[in-house]
Amino acid sequence: MCGIVGYVGPRGSAAVLLGGLGRLEYRGYDSAGIAVISDTLDLRKRAGKLVALRDELESNPIVDGHTGIGHTRWATHGAPNDVNAHPHLADGGKLALIHNGIIENFAELKAELLAEGVEFLSETDSEVAAHLVAREYRECGNLTEALRRVVSRLHGAFTLLVVHEDAPNVVVGARRNSPLVIGLGEGENFLGSDVAAFIEYTRNALAIGQDQLVTITPTSVDVIDFDGNPVTPEPFEVTWDASAAEKGGWSSFMAKEISEEPQAVADTLRGRLVDGRVELSDLNPALLSGIDRVVIIGCGTAAYAGMVGKYAIEQWARIPVDVELSHEFRYRDPVVNDRTLVVSVSQSGETMDTLMAVKYAGEVGCRTLSICNTQGATIPRESDGVIYTHAGPEVAVASTKAFLAQVTALYLLGLAIAQENGNISDTVLADMVRDLAATPDQLKTVIEHSERIETMAKWMADTRAVLLLGRHVGYPVALEGALKLKELAYIHAEGFAAGELKHGPIALIEPGQIVFVIVPSPRDPNSLNAKVVSNIQEIRARGARVIAIAEQGDAGVLPYADEVIPIPLANPLIEPMLAVVPLHIFAMELASAKGLDVDQPRNLAKSVTVE
Ligand code: F6R
Repeated sequence: MCGIVGYVGPRGSAAVLLGGLGRLEYRGYDSAGIAVISDTLDLRKRAGKLVALRDELESNPIVDGHTGIGHTRWATHGAPNDVNAHPHLADGGKLALIHNGIIENFAELKAELLAEGVEFLSETDSEVAAHLVAREYRECGNLTEALRRVVSRLHGAFTLLVVHEDAPNVVVGARRNSPLVIGLGEGENFLGSDVAAFIEYTRNALAIGQDQLVTITPTSVDVIDFDGNPVTPEPFEVTWDASAAEKGGWSSFMAKEISEEPQAVADTLRGRLVDGRVELSDLNPALLSGIDRVVIIGCGTAAYAGMVGKYAIEQWARIPVDVELSHEFRYRDPVVNDRTLVVSVSQSGETMDTLMAVKYAGEVGCRTLSICNTQGATIPRESDGVIYTHAGPEVAVASTKAFLAQVTALYLLGLAIAQENGNISDTVLADMVRDLAATPDQLKTVIEHSERIETMAKWMADTRAVLLLGRHVGYPVALEGALKLKELAYIHAEGFAAGELKHGPIALIEPGQIVFVIVPSPRDPNSLNAKVVSNIQEIRARGARVIAIAEQGDAGVLPYADEVIPIPLANPLIEPMLAVVPLHIFAMELASAKGLDVDQPRNLAKSVTVE
């Protein structure tokens, strides 16, 4: 939530900042602004998407300079208007500050400043920080020290960047529980909420830890902790380049990212399936040794990936697995111990609810493992181990390819635990390794045969409600499909476990109600196919329009479904990965048919960095 970028170097900073904000816009798009230092500090900011700021800069150009900060906002305190947009000014317009996060004690700090006669322009918590830094800067004359003095007074989560007209060629940043990374250039340096901010210029990055400050000039990077002690930040190289974060010829980032789902799985598997076994070389084996329980935590789509993972891990490793929403786990005093492995699933690696839950798990003695798609992110840094997913940058706000990569990583983890505790036979292991390796090609087949879904979405453009039914691993797929429809097409959509139908939800069925049903394979060893086909008959008898996602050649389902979306024959545990793709495509196409912005749905932001 909120994208932040800072720059010092020889380039015109306005263009660098706008480029960075363009790649960070998925983090928030309520308003945007930049502040640039030439001889004096100049600022432009506008409510609305980045295009409004670009238009403003066109009609009212900024005096460009070589130092600047930029911000794209997801509003917390104060409406998304021009005045509440960042940057915020202080010190008579000589200091500019941007903020991501929430300053929980801002009211008390604001009262203190008001008593001193400070005038506030905005309703934001962030402007308080700007005036506090200005006050300290007037006293000590050093921007880093001024910010250091202020952060110790702030409660809550924040990334702050600040520039001052009297300190040209300097950008100072600080972070607590909100993201910030450093980009290292030649004679120039960058700061960003994530590496997308500066990927056009450098792939060399430094990760900053919690409660640290960074000061960049064109030729130096200095990091200290909040007590002022020097810190050596951890270097890493970004494995993707700027083109990966561009839309290319696609109509939307979401369309591009769905097309990359096979690659996301292939890249997450790469190098990890060796001789019919799983090798997670980046993981310390001691982390998995002797565990007797797994708790998977995450939010939204990541939690649904976790639900799919639960079925597989329990089946292979024969240890209990719970899946919990991070925010529920964190605040309910769970019964866990040092043999509990808490696995967090997060694309961004910055989701505040998940981060807090990971910290809590560590504090109460659990082992913590992060499944994460973003290098240098906070959650893997706070965990005992990490399995990176390699889905590449996900820009569309709604998660698609990351879901596939998360399920893949959870499967790798499940097989690794089963190998470790010896509860999986060599045959089952080898079969699963083979089936996983075949998944990317099967996903390609699903995507190649998706034209019918586009047509269906067009005729359903006026649909107000969609229900989705699934069983076993199809159940989380139903939940994921419903979430995508809510957030992209703004319709009421709800996923149910098909077995639950007769316990209530069947009352929702009326003539014409559209119901997607994820049908288990007729080859499923649990014979769930017949039960789900019975469910289809029950809702069909009550007038539902049934769209079945079923295995190619499943003749049993044909007489009862209005439409069948076929998926290739696969291992039952691979089916959820194949079945979710048509639902991703359908949600995107339905939103497009309704003329909605599929990449930036209303009220949302990618990477929810406030609780
Ligand atoms: C839904 C979606 C969200 C995220 C959730 C967790 O399409 O994108 O539900 O899955 O906010 O985000 P991460 O994975 O970054 O922790």
